[in-house]
Amino acid sequence: MTGIRSLAVLTLLLAAVCTMHAAEGAARFSHKTHAPLKMPCAKCHTGVSKAAAAGYPGEAECKVCHTAFTAAQTKFPTKRVYRLPDFVFFSHKVHLDARAECARCHGDVNASAAVTLAVPPTMKMCVDCHRETKASIECFVCHEISQ
Ligand code: HEC
Ligand code: HEC
Ligand code: HEC
Ligand code: HEC
Ligand code: HEC
Repeated sequence: MTGIRSLAVLTLLLAAVCTMHAAEGAARFSHKTHAPLKMPCAKCHTGVSKAAAAGYPGEAECKVCHTAFTAAQTKFPTKRVYRLPDFVFFSHKVHLDARAECARCHGDVNASAAVTLAVPPTMKMCVDCHRETKASIECFVCHEISQ
């Protein structure tokens, strides 16, 4: 009797674990775990040197080491951390060409498992650095002026 019941419970548990696994989606990526490998940021965020958006890695980048990963397990982002309102212009390429460092705008990403909003992208933060680096602080540089 107890034998049959525990078998039933075990089956239920197994079913639950399998469903959880299927619904899991993307793997939980940790910059901290990968930091010792010293991969350049641009290996995974390939847009930084050529586009406005930094972009996210996918199956091909992860499979270099984790051959068993599927497309579903490497669908990033799982959640956006840094995001500007639509009325602000921004380009990674322009800033990387000007030798700005990732850490100035994102903090020490490799120090923690999950990326946090370490440096909120406020107008003050942008304008302060534009003053410092003698870049333009004219409103139209960052905002479309429409009337
Ligand atoms: C250059 C090789 C390499 C690449 C590329 C790589 N990983 Fe890893 N990954 C590792 C190593 C090494 C570990 C650490 C294994 C350990 O210590 O247990 C690891 C661990 C992990 C783990 C285990 C959990 C953890 O964080 O400790 C996950 C999940 C993971 N990687 C996901 C990814 C994803 C997603 C990608 C693609 C965006 C990726 N990895 C790309 C080498 C790599
Ligand atoms: C092995 C691949 C890999 C490398 C190398 C890597 N990242 Fe990432 N990064 C990811 C993945 C995957 C995500 C998305 C995680 C998610 O959405 O769950 C991410 C997310 C981020 C985010 C958050 C973006 C957002 O959604 O707002 C920032 C910022 C970031 N990475 C910066 C860096 C910096 C800086 C470096 C170099 C120091 C770096 N990354 C190196 C894979 C990588
Ligand atoms: C001058 C500031 C600045 C620098 C330098 C910078 N970022 Fe960003 N990053 C931002 C801002 C602002 C956003 C949000 C952009 C948006 O919402 O349009 C962002 C978004 C991102 C994102 C997520 C969205 C996307 O663009 O695809 C990733 C990933 C990222 N940055 C990685 C990096 C990496 C890696 C570096 C260094 C190679 C870097 N960033 C350098 C300011 C910066
Ligand atoms: C590390 C200092 C620094 C930070 C932080 C910074 N900028 Fe810049 N930005 C620059 C420099 C330097 C240039 C000038 C590049 C050039 O003219 O070659 C520039 C240029 C620009 C441009 C002009 C692009 C073009 O097409 O010429 C825009 C738009 C811009 N930044 C928006 C932003 C926004 C929005 C933020 C905040 C989220 C920001 N910047 C944060 C240094 C910075
Ligand atoms: C270097 C880039 C940059 C420049 C130059 C700039 N802004 Fe902004 N501005 C931003 C960013 C980023 C935001 C969004 C984040 C925030 O609200 O702090 C913003 C937000 C705003 C907002 C919305 C504020 C709110 O509370 O919602 C207004 C209004 C604004 N800017 C007006 C201006 C005016 C006027 C100028 C010229 C004197 C100017 N900006 C110059 C980057 C810039």
